Amino acid sequence: MKQFEEKKFTVPILKGISAKTIEEHLKLYAGYVKNANLIGEKMGVYAQDIEANLYVLGELNRRFSFEYNGMRNHEVYFSSLEGGPTNLTDTSQLKKMIAETWGSYEGWFDGFKKLAATTRGIGWAVLWYDRKNRRLLTSWVDEQHLGQLQDCAMILGLDMWEHSYVADYQPSGKKQYVDDFFANLNWAVIEKNFVATQ
Ligand SMILES: [Fe+2]
Repeated sequence: MKQFEEKKFTVPILKGISAKTIEEHLKLYAGYVKNANLIGEKMGVYAQDIEANLYVLGELNRRFSFEYNGMRNHEVYFSSLEGGPTNLTDTSQLKKMIAETWGSYEGWFDGFKKLAATTRGIGWAVLWYDRKNRRLLTSWVDEQHLGQLQDCAMILGLDMWEHSYVADYQPSGKKQYVDDFFANLNWAVIEKNFVATQ
């Protein structure tokens, strides 16, 4: 299998989220890339005798989606923190569509932050673009792979695994982490993710 490449990110000094947390978090991202590649390799080896390795192959295939989505989800997350914070402009196509979809941008923003801060368990709060129906959706992804919406592009991904915030905020500081994530967010990147789907 062709190898996946580990992307490099330049994350500036952030409000609230320490450089140490980002450094450790990037190591976890690198682990997902490594494991996605490793599973690909192992699947190739075991596939030389499919009958004898059927159960192993089945489990590797199951595990692959966890590693693959862990890799891709983190690429959305880290790239959105590059370049320093910016806001969506009033001419933003994304902002317009959010307002059309949820009534107002502010209403959506408040709801999305609550989704992130109050949903139980580890996972991701996500803003998606549904290419088939040409509309926006939000959802919660458990872990890395359970709840990804098929054929939808991840426009914005907010990592709510504890490793993203617990060293800086403690488990009770989830809401502050969410607020700080948005204070650090480069919305121009999110707008670009959206425009790329059009
Ligand atoms: Fe993470």
